[in-house]
Amino acid sequence: MIMGFKQKVAKITGIDAKLIPSGYQIIGDILLLKFMKIKSADKKKKIAEAIVKILPYVKTVCEIREVSGEFREPAVDILFGERTETIHTENGIKYRIDVSKIMFSKGNLTERSRIIPMVKEGENIVDMFAGIGYFSLGLAKFTKAKEILSIEKNPVAYNFFADNIMLNSVKNINAMQGDCAMAAMSIKDYADRIIMGYFPGTEEFLQYALMMAHSPCTIHFHNIYKTKELWTKPLQQIDCACKRAGMIFKIKTKKKVKSYAPRVWHVAVDFVVTKTTEVKAKQ
Ligand SMILES: C[S@@+](CC[C@H](N)C(=O)[O-])C[C@H]1O[C@@H](n2cnc3c(N)ncnc32)[C@H](O)[C@@H]1O
Repeated sequence: MIMGFKQKVAKITGIDAKLIPSGYQIIGDILLLKFMKIKSADKKKKIAEAIVKILPYVKTVCEIREVSGEFREPAVDILFGERTETIHTENGIKYRIDVSKIMFSKGNLTERSRIIPMVKEGENIVDMFAGIGYFSLGLAKFTKAKEILSIEKNPVAYNFFADNIMLNSVKNINAMQGDCAMAAMSIKDYADRIIMGYFPGTEEFLQYALMMAHSPCTIHFHNIYKTKELWTKPLQQIDCACKRAGMIFKIKTKKKVKSYAPRVWHVAVDFVVTKTTEVKAKQ
């Protein structure tokens, strides 16, 4: 029988395999894990030391306790090693990140690659919640978009983003540090595509996305909803925002990205908006 990760850690540490977390996340050479059943600091350290023996490319092991606030900041404790900054490579993009300061949203891996083939040559794209460049860098490197206007509010994330633009040698990103709601006031009628990769409460930003939207514009809207709210609530929110902005919308895709909590889903809705006046003029 092939021994699994938990069994290997249990064998080295003598700790019951049932108590050892089975899931972990590797960012660059840093491993992050969450403990649900172990409280003892000594046991956590023992587990971290065992992990480094099993996975020698891991240089730091961290416990991630929670991710919170507007900036999705992680609370992280180092269990083994010293360094929390690393370079993570994913889908041909390098991301410099400090895992103690910024959350790396690995769950959006498929979303990042899903959008790339949709982009047409010459598009102007707005990435409203750019983070360290999760969506923007791939769009700049692997599409023929004209410009990617990327907005990030957290100055720490923004600084890593600025580094990552250089690290990946991409030229067509216009990165702004600030609030996308404020930025929208001066970016009117610009975007052929908008990425709204943030939650919860993304619906509050729909009005700002619609200000930046050119007609037509494709919007990739992410948010979280309870199972019973799918798909009525997201569609109502989109409908309400579009009516207020004098736009009509057409849904292209509705998908569950991942489970967020029991009976709660991170979802993505792609829709195309067009100015109502243009639709009427064509009729
Ligand atoms: C969880 S990250 C997600 C990054 C990426 N869009 C994704 O989906 O993988 C969300 C980012 O939005 C930023 N943010 C939150 N509110 C913002 C606002 N009003 N304007 C611009 N950025 C904001 C946070 O600082 C954080 O870096």
